[in-house]
Amino acid sequence: MIFQETYTLSNGIKIPRLGFGTWCIRDEKVEKAVQAALQIGYRHIDTAQVYGNERGVGEAIRQSKIKREDIFLTSKIAAEAKDYDTAMKTIEGTLAKTQMEYIDMMIIHSPQPWDEVNVSENRYEEGNREAWRALEDAYQSGKIRAIGVSNFNCHDIENILSIAKIKPMVNQILCHIANTPLELIDFCHENGIIVEAYSPIAHGEAFKIKEIEDMAKKYEVTVPQLCIRYDWQLDTVVLPKAENPEHIKENSQIDFVISDEDMNTLKQVELIKNYGEYSHYPVYANPGKK
Ligand SMILES: NC(=O)c1ccc[n+]([C@@H]2O[C@H](COP(=O)([O-])OP(=O)(O)OC[C@H]3O[C@@H](n4cnc5c(N)ncnc54)[C@H](OP(=O)(O)O)[C@@H]3O)[C@@H](O)[C@H]2O)c1
Repeated sequence: MIFQETYTLSNGIKIPRLGFGTWCIRDEKVEKAVQAALQIGYRHIDTAQVYGNERGVGEAIRQSKIKREDIFLTSKIAAEAKDYDTAMKTIEGTLAKTQMEYIDMMIIHSPQPWDEVNVSENRYEEGNREAWRALEDAYQSGKIRAIGVSNFNCHDIENILSIAKIKPMVNQILCHIANTPLELIDFCHENGIIVEAYSPIAHGEAFKIKEIEDMAKKYEVTVPQLCIRYDWQLDTVVLPKAENPEHIKENSQIDFVISDEDMNTLKQVELIKNYGEYSHYPVYANPGKK
């Protein structure tokens, strides 16, 4: 059963492999969506300070009456918080907004503030080390049960590893058919870091790609199901987002296997180079030629 599948983080904590993404779901709508996901069986919810919906996510978890310890909740420190005090304040902010006694995992949302992503060469090494120290302290005080990073490349991870008392447990990265960072995934796995694949359906772009549509037909599944299963077979935690309850359910029905040959074909699908309004999305140099 997909919902029972977990990975074990480097500190022994289990993380459900299928998560429910909540980006672009407004606070007043997120309660309904998260409740639907929890009812369907999801036990891993992904939010972030910048999504502006942490209050609603916390409320949905409380209203669900599911035991708190049976749900894995992730939030993300704002990308702009690049000093110890600011990072610590934002962690307190997440605890206050969600009204949770603890958060299962918090991660640094981006190594660079959003307005510098794909624009500036500055990787904020010092600022990310500071934010990491705040995460380590919050972890050691018991407010957070696991810590990690997001959108970090190999250099950004090495920067954290150079000072870490606790190593990052996950790296949450853009990872989907037509933009798969295989080298970064290998690097994370070699360093004991679990990879979380965000935007598995390419934020909807996957529907426009003929090779994906054809392959979905071959397996008699939908485009989102093929996309989610592809990430699953790359040994990642997968984080699809859907507001429509039918989509939420469909995205958990991924109990089929893509053959090695077809995985290889999907790794070669031409790279998406332009995400339109989402210009902060990384386009990886390695389009899966492996
Ligand atoms: N760390 C980061 O920087 C970062 C960045 C981006 C995303 N994320 C995380 O990853 C999650 C997922 O990424 P995402 O929100 O970009 O998008 P996604 O999961 O790639 O795609 C979501 C879109 O696909 C549609 N969809 C989903 N399932 C469908 C189905 N079965 N049939 C038809 N349409 C379907 C959704 O429609 P409906 O909503 O209408 O159902 C929505 O428009 C986010 O919510 C967030 O938690 C993290």
